Amino acid sequence: MVAGSVLKARLEEAKTPLLVVFTHEDGDSAEFRRIDKALKGQLSELKKNKEFEGKAMTLSLLRTPSSPFKRVLLVGLGKKKELSLEMLRRGAGVAVKAAREQAPEIAIPVSHDRGGLKRLDAVAQAIAEGVILGGYRFLKYKTQDVESLKQLKSFTLLVEEKAQAKPAQRGLEKGAILSDSVNYARDLVNTPAADMSPAALEEESRRLAKRHNLKLTVFDAAELKRRGMGAILSVGKGSAVLPRMIILEYRRPGAKKHLVLCGKGVCYDSGGYNIKTTMLELMKDDMGGAAALLGTLDALATMKTKAHVTVILGAVENLISGSAYKTGDVVKASNGKTIEVLNTDAEGRVVLADCLSHASAIKDADMILDIATLTGAAKVALGTVGGVLTPNDRLAKALIEAGEETGDRAWRLPLWEEHKEDIKSDIADMKNIGYPMTAGASAGAVFLQEFVAKPELWAHIDIGGAVYDDRERPYLPKGATGWGVRLLTRFVELQ
Ligand code: BES
Ligand code: ZN
Ligand code: ZN
Repeated sequence: MVAGSVLKARLEEAKTPLLVVFTHEDGDSAEFRRIDKALKGQLSELKKNKEFEGKAMTLSLLRTPSSPFKRVLLVGLGKKKELSLEMLRRGAGVAVKAAREQAPEIAIPVSHDRGGLKRLDAVAQAIAEGVILGGYRFLKYKTQDVESLKQLKSFTLLVEEKAQAKPAQRGLEKGAILSDSVNYARDLVNTPAADMSPAALEEESRRLAKRHNLKLTVFDAAELKRRGMGAILSVGKGSAVLPRMIILEYRRPGAKKHLVLCGKGVCYDSGGYNIKTTMLELMKDDMGGAAALLGTLDALATMKTKAHVTVILGAVENLISGSAYKTGDVVKASNGKTIEVLNTDAEGRVVLADCLSHASAIKDADMILDIATLTGAAKVALGTVGGVLTPNDRLAKALIEAGEETGDRAWRLPLWEEHKEDIKSDIADMKNIGYPMTAGASAGAVFLQEFVAKPELWAHIDIGGAVYDDRERPYLPKGATGWGVRLLTRFVELQ
């Protein structure tokens, strides 16, 4: 974990091995002008020669050995007028990746010149997030040459006025908690399925519950059977590690609403007898919904947010064996509805059928959300943006706004009556697939809706594309994104 701190110091006197200076393409930032002056015009010289123009995500490194700061890393943030918290996160993310090659410690001014961004705490939070999320690496399985990978050890947020120290500290702390929780979720998703089985996910949940004093209940296979949860049981039949439902409850006095969050925890999705032909090596990420919820609980509990949240994880492996469920099977969920399994690879919705039925039986629940790597169709439609599907316009808006604010971008996909047509079954109450190659994310959602008692108080979030990115992004290395932790934490805070 990278440690952050706030320091009050005059910019020109900042003692640091590397000073990050954000600036713009349509005019210099205040810190650019001041450091330029201290360096007798060295920075403006670069701009004049067009060696550095301040364009978004461009960098330039200068050695300044005779100054208190030994290096200056210029970071372009694009147009000043368009500066946003997300741009700051991204700028801090690219800065940290370049800076850690140079120095184990860096300093970043927060209080100088942030265009229209007036709230210093939000600015400090965004920069801290960019640094901690951007600095993330998954090193659990590296044994060789780990030492040669240069890691950032600590960062300092610089303020110049005494009154700025408190809001900067507040922002830093919040940003650090959220980012550590996102990185925790990333670790869970990046961990190979061999080490993240349903049993391991249970163990991880127990550790989290212990750390934060959460109430934990686990339904093992026998209990699932007793409760008539034939859907999750069927999906898990083919694995030597039996399925389980993991329920965690976080509650702090002062909470107004009880939110129930369900997560798809398919620890490995081979597709079953409808075996996948592509991206099998990626299918350890099919528990990304569950991971996002564990990360969210971690953040809420660390921040002591006033909230009442119950998390329900359907932990299971979708494998092939003599005991696996088969294409054509009819299974029954605990709300009594029957499902014709016409594709064993559409297993997430079958698992969630029991999770949502259980959530719907919680008497005082005010709202149910589910988050799941449900469809490849969501990835095709939205890329790494999360898909929101709900009959409730206000809820859709609130989720998308929480995403916009936090950097977990989301967008709405339709969920309409006519989608119900597509999941009609000849022999059961419904089938687990829609019409081929047609509105796949909507078909998934309309299926899930059959298992919630009050659809108007429910939203489904499809992270089929958002969970993982094999392209490097400004504050994200290749791999698990931790998508959802920031959005959901913010959403819960606002309830
Ligand atoms: N976990 C997958 C969805 C997925 C695929 C997410 C690729 C991310 C990347 C899910 O269980 C699945 O296989 N869904 C099928 C549903 C189809 C058979 C109706 C899909 O999307 O192809
Ligand atoms: Zn599948
Ligand atoms: Zn799946």
